[in-house]
Amino acid sequence: MSAPPSRVAVFGAGYVGLVTGACFADLGHTVVIRDVLTDRVEALQRGEIPIYEPGLAELIEANRERLTFTTSVAEAIEGADFVYVAVGTPPTYSGDADLSAVWMVIDELPAIDRPCIVVMKSTVPVGTGLKVRHRLDARGLTHVGYASNPEFTAEGTAVKDFLHPDRIVVGAFREDDGDAVVALHGGIEGPVVRCDVASAEMIKLAANAALMTRISFINEIANVCEATGADVVRVAEGIGLDRRIGPSFLRAGIGFGGSCFPKDSLALKQLAANSGYHFQLLNAVIEVNELQKRRVIGKLHSHLGSLRDKRVALLGLAFKPHTDDMREAPSLVLAGRLLAEGADVRAWDPVVDGRDLHGVEIAATPEVAAAGADAVVIVTEWPELTTVDWASVAATMRTPVLIDGRNLLDPARMEASGLRYEGIGRAAEVREG
Ligand code: UDX
Ligand code: UDX
Repeated sequence: MSAPPSRVAVFGAGYVGLVTGACFADLGHTVVIRDVLTDRVEALQRGEIPIYEPGLAELIEANRERLTFTTSVAEAIEGADFVYVAVGTPPTYSGDADLSAVWMVIDELPAIDRPCIVVMKSTVPVGTGLKVRHRLDARGLTHVGYASNPEFTAEGTAVKDFLHPDRIVVGAFREDDGDAVVALHGGIEGPVVRCDVASAEMIKLAANAALMTRISFINEIANVCEATGADVVRVAEGIGLDRRIGPSFLRAGIGFGGSCFPKDSLALKQLAANSGYHFQLLNAVIEVNELQKRRVIGKLHSHLGSLRDKRVALLGLAFKPHTDDMREAPSLVLAGRLLAEGADVRAWDPVVDGRDLHGVEIAATPEVAAAGADAVVIVTEWPELTTVDWASVAATMRTPVLIDGRNLLDPARMEASGLRYEGIGRAAEVREG
């Protein structure tokens, strides 16, 4: 069932705000997206999309008549039935979420004199909604509603995740505010979870924590596989077929990155600590992930000895494929460690330009990055890497070592191509036996 058209103001034209705004426009609503960055807004007005997200440019283009961009708060709020908050909430030095951009939005709201609902899309600590409610009340905006409607969109598939969600979560203080936010999603099929605001906030943090726990778990299983002669790819397949476990988020690799997991794990850890609880499991998940990013360096040492003056090619820079996002990308830690050890680092990525990676030479193709290298490391599992002619690449390398940080390639085929292949959690003895 489609929803009656509403007017939606979205604050924040980042990965989440643009997808949210474009999808609501696609559902038939009139949407104004507001951002503080003049350059970003002007580019959007010209039809240029500042981020790489599959399907987003097409969706924005298809809904131009209902979707506008502005830097003006007044213009965004004019007639709005919903005010979505989708500004960033990066970690502070202590690991707590920095909510200054959220407070800025709330404090900049004009004295609205008609029904309107503020909806929190940004990931915030549990308890934030209650504080916002108090702040709105203190400003005499008691008639303005408040709801928490967290996002579960993964970069690279964000448009699909928004329009075909596993669930829509809506937490509200007043029943009718929750009803209105649910109605706004009319046209989207999916289970709806209605709850209080604090629980909605916790669902977001807990969902991410559960996914991160699975990744650190399979990474530790991978490390034990390496030590004992098993292959984690087969192990993940074998456990993932158990319906109680399921197959997703069991890909061992060089650790999770991105704009959400690292930040949200720290925020949940701090939230627990600030409330007097030591979240032991989450601490371990974070620590395992940090160590995992560095294990590739140990693998390179075992093949090459000292890394001083060795040339290492990093293939893939983005924190995962199908995005240009470099926030908390494992490639940043790897490049930093390699440069610190005196290695000569070249990198390739199909969408990240790598300009900010000081000291790293950017190559136009994987083949150019690998030529003359002592080792190649697959950092991001871009599909392009599966069609590379690895035998030709091996022939151009100084030493043909391939560390597959994402278990993207077939070990036997790589060895037949003349490469010394090492994945994550794939013991060589298994193949030799
Ligand atoms: C989002 C969420 O908001 C964050 O809480 C969630 O955990 C991850 O995703 P994201 O869209 O990825 O953030 O962030 P980003 O791409 O940095 O976009 C934020 C936008 O808000 C930027 O365009 C920034 O200019 C804008 N902004 C920031 C404002 O408009 N006002 C501010 O005060 C601060
Ligand atoms: C995540 C959540 O999935 C999404 O619901 C939330 O709204 C935002 O955070 P995102 O960070 O975009 O989305 O990507 P995701 O696909 O979850 O991957 C996160 C990280 O985990 C990546 O670095 C990825 O490489 C890694 N990962 C994922 C693994 O190492 N193994 C896996 O099996 C899955």
